[in-house]
This record gives sequence, C-alpha cells and structure tokens, in this order.
Amino acid sequence: MKILAIETSCDETACAVVEDGRRILSNIIASQIDAHKLYGGVVPEIASRLHSESIVGVCEEALAGAGCKLSDIDAVAVTYAPGLIGALLVGVNFAKGLALAVNKPLIPVHHIKGHAAANYLAYPELEPPYLCLAVSGGHSQIMEVKSYTEFSVIGRTIDDAAGEAFDKAARALGFPYPGGVYIDKAALSALTRNTSLNSQSYHLPYPKTPNELDFSFSGLKTAVINLIHNTEQRGEELDKDAVAAAFQNKICEILTTKLLKAAEITQNNAGGGGSRQAGRGSRQKIALTGGVAANSGLRQMLTERAGGDFEIYIPPLSLCGDNAAMIASQGYYEYLAGNTAGMDLNAFANLDL
Ligand code: KG4
Ligand code: ZN
Repeated sequence: MKILAIETSCDETACAVVEDGRRILSNIIASQIDAHKLYGGVVPEIASRLHSESIVGVCEEALAGAGCKLSDIDAVAVTYAPGLIGALLVGVNFAKGLALAVNKPLIPVHHIKGHAAANYLAYPELEPPYLCLAVSGGHSQIMEVKSYTEFSVIGRTIDDAAGEAFDKAARALGFPYPGGVYIDKAALSALTRNTSLNSQSYHLPYPKTPNELDFSFSGLKTAVINLIHNTEQRGEELDKDAVAAAFQNKICEILTTKLLKAAEITQNNAGGGGSRQAGRGSRQKIALTGGVAANSGLRQMLTERAGGDFEIYIPPLSLCGDNAAMIASQGYYEYLAGNTAGMDLNAFANLDL
C-alpha cells in the first residue's frame, strides 16, 4: 500500500511516499528556516504563507521521486494536530483536495505519533510495545507505545519543551535560530579542545518536578541567562562553548535519567523482566525521537547508560526532525486500525495523544 503524506505543522513543508509503512520511496522537505531566522523564531503567518507557496511543488517532487503518478497512491495521510493552526490548515486542506481528486482514503495523523513512527522506517524489526521519549521544539513526552495506535503519556514537560530550551539558551549565547544544533557543535568543540574548561566548568541545576517523570526546563534556561549576566557584571569572559557543553550535558542527564526511571517503573508494572515485550531479544525496548534526538550528546549518553540493558532505537539524523515519511508510516498503521477521516476533518493546534 502506497501512502502519500503531508506535514506542515511548523516550519517544514514536507511530502513523502512510503510503502506499507516501512519503505521510503521519496521524502521531500522544504525548510523555511532561512525565512524565520531573521526574526529569531517561527513567525506563524510567514509559515502559513510559505506552506501555501511550496506545497504543490513539494508534492510533485515527492511523486516524481517515488516514480508514481497521483493515481498510483492508495491513500493520503496528513498531520492534523498539534502545531501552528494556520500551518496545519494548509496541509489538511491540500490533503483533502488530493484525496477527493483521486477518491482515496484520507488519514489524519497526530504529529507526535508520527515522530514515534520515524523509528519504524529505520528499524524493520521494531514493533510495539515499547517506551518512547519524543523530544522536539514543541514537545517533551515519555510515552508507552502500547500498540501502533494506542499511546499512554507517562511524563511530560510542565513548562518549556527540550528543543525550546535548547533554542532559548542558544539565543542567549548569541547563536542563530534554531539553536539546538549550534549548542551541539559548541559542546563538541568544548569537549574536544585541550583546555581545563569543559561541561563541568559551569554548574547548572537539576530541576525538580512533583511527578518524577515530568520535565521542567525553564529554570535551566534562566540559569544560563543568569550565568551570562553575572559573568558580564564581574567583567569576566564567558566561555560560550563550555556553557553550551554544561547546558547540553544537564539536559541530556535529565532526559536520560527520567527515561530510564520510566523504563524501570513500566517494567515493574508489567511484572518485571520485560517479559511482556517481544522482539529483538527479550530486553525492554526504548526509542528516542524528535528534533532533539539529533543531539550527539543525548544519543551518546542514552546508548552508554542504557545500551547494555535495553534495546535502544534512535532514528538516523535525517528522520529526527519534521518530515512526512514518518507521517506516512504512522498513517499506514492508522489506516489498518480503521482511523480515516471525512471531508469535515479539521486541524487542532493542541491535541493530547
Ligand atoms: O521535531 P522538530 O524538527 O520540530 C518540532 O516538532 O518541534 O524539532 C525541532 C527542535 C528545535 O528546537 C531544534 O533546535 C532541535 O529540535 N534540534 C536540536 C538538534 N537538532 C535539532 N537540539 C539539540 N541538538 C541538536 N543537534
Ligand atoms: Zn516535530
């Protein structure tokens, strides 16, 4: 079954064709970052306008890349929530038009479920149930993926998302938008250079939350801003790379610690031993996904701390950020579960899993 999927929830206009939920035939992404960079963040009106301008060309490219005509497509999947409402509406309305034109099913996909499906494209053997941490610019959630379509959120951010914290700290340090990747590079250069300053040179707090599986990142961002101001006031020079390393290290420590705590809790609830999970060996499966899953420090820390005890699944860099292949993959499983929509499908800026 060939699914054409459309993703326009934020600042990427994306279209992909995926076969049977697992095989990418094409995956086209038109990034709007250069347009938003000027303003230090995504401007919703500009995002909607640019989606409208590029969606036809991006879809044509995806069909051509897959060697398909529109009539070869078996269904159209689209991200309908959550995201910027104007941006989502461009994708939803375009998808409706396509589905109507070829008289094929329309499949609504939740963006975060789509992020989880990124790992199905990279790991043919991965099947639910498993535990998944989705960390992006808008979300930080620990989820039990009970089946392809049933998710249970057991930890979430109570303020900023992890990617948002990366971007805000990066902005305070003078890096361009989106800053996560610049923090990653600066942290790497601090760790590889030959000086006494490294991720341990600046102390940052480990924020407490009432629910131990929830996240709180806004205090960490404030701590970085205070560190910058205090250093300036003392007339000292700030080592930006070392601050980036300290910040990244703390975020990775928080994410990894809570994810592993969640693994312990869910394993105990299931009777221990990971016995309810089948698949690669009998070990419990943990997946990472979302834009922040591209972070080299996070990939390394999770693999080092958990790789011996768990099966770890992390998407390749090309599938961490927003893309439509992951929406097509999740769309396939939504279709199998009977979750299709009519021409009255609406978009939602906020929608729980
Ligand atoms: O999943 P995504 O593309 O969009 C949303 O759904 O939000 O995630 C974008 C986020 C941005 O905050 C960006 O700074 C962050 O992912 N990001 C990174 C890295 N690459 C992208 N954060 C840390 N390290 C990276 N290497
Ligand atoms: Zn995303």
